This record gives sequence, C-alpha cells and structure tokens, in this order.
Amino acid sequence: MSSPQIQLKDKTFIPYLNKQQIHETVKRLASQLNEEYHDKKPLFVCILSGSFMFCSDLVKNFCGDCEITFVRLSSYSGTQSTGNITTLMGLVESLTDRHVIIVEDIVDTGNTLSKFLPEVQALQPASLKVCSLLVKPEALQDRIKVDFVGFSIPNDFIVGYGLDYDGLGRNLQEIYVIKP
Ligand code: IMP
Ligand code: MG
Repeated sequence: MSSPQIQLKDKTFIPYLNKQQIHETVKRLASQLNEEYHDKKPLFVCILSGSFMFCSDLVKNFCGDCEITFVRLSSYSGTQSTGNITTLMGLVESLTDRHVIIVEDIVDTGNTLSKFLPEVQALQPASLKVCSLLVKPEALQDRIKVDFVGFSIPNDFIVGYGLDYDGLGRNLQEIYVIKP
C-alpha cells in the first residue's frame, strides 16, 4: 500500500510511483548498463542534488568495475525550472577516453543537460550517454537524447526519492505528484 498524501510547505502531494515500481525500474536500467558497460569501467557522473538516491541504487546494481563522481548543478526554483544553470560544484576527474554515463534524476526542460553535455563532450570522453530515472517529454525544449529512460511521465511536478520542493521531500522513499 502507498502512503497517504503528504504536505510540503504550501503544497499537497499524492502517491505516484511506489517503492516496488522504482526498484524494478532501477534494476532494469542497471541490467541495460551491465550489458553495455560491464567490461568498460565506466565513470558515472551523478548530478547532485536530485540524483543522489537514484545513483546510489543504480550503481549498487551495476556489476563490473566502475567509478563514480559528482557534480552539483542547480536550475530549479520552487516548482519551476529557471533556465539559469549554476555549477555549484564542478568536475575534477579527467574524462579523456573514459566511458561516461551521466546520471540524472529527471530531464524536464532539458536546459541543464543542454548546458552540461557540451562541457563534458569537450573533455573528450570515449563515449557519453545519459541515464535518467524520469523524463517529462512534454516539457522538453531542447533536443536531448536520453539513452536510458526509467519512466516517461506527464508534465506535473513531483517530489521524493531525491527530488525536492524547495529543499524538502528528498528523503521520501516513494515518488509523489502535486495534487491538482
Ligand atoms: P531541466 O533543466 O529543466 O531539465 O531540469 C533539471 C533539474 O530540475 C532536474 O535534474 C531536477 O533536479 C529538477 N526538476 C525537474 N523537474 C522536477 C520535478 O518535477 N520535481 C523536482 N525537481 C525537478
Ligand atoms: Mg537533477
């Protein structure tokens, strides 16, 4: 059974994706990555803050050798993507000749990745792919290719499993959608 509705500041959210749906999807994504990368020692680039929980579960299910690094990008204010992407913590590793997998919680407008991907590409990785737990195809403004997609969802604001509303809700184990 899903938990009942929750209140974060001025907004109410209702259950949307439960633990089992998330778990099964993370396992599916990890097995796709296992197939493609098991012998490639990929470098996972976890985009903080939203992806911390997803990335943690994803790499726990990856079987080969791998490395994990973190960048912290920020674009959201309240329930809106601002289009102003700020790098609060950048890349320190060399990406040259590495098989890089960008790990995102959600691709919404695509603004974050359309700024970040060219920066990564300029560092000359051997390959570069994107794995996102969620995508909102209706919100997507830029032509971003998400190579590994967990769930395609409507253009509604969600929280939980790493995603926040004004800093709150990241610790929830399930994903909730804003109550209409
Ligand atoms: P984009 O730049 O619009 O693609 O959005 C990038 C970031 O905004 C995502 O990585 C999330 O961290 C955040 N974001 C987008 N949609 C949502 C949402 O529905 N809830 C919470 N955070 C979101
Ligand atoms: Mg994010």
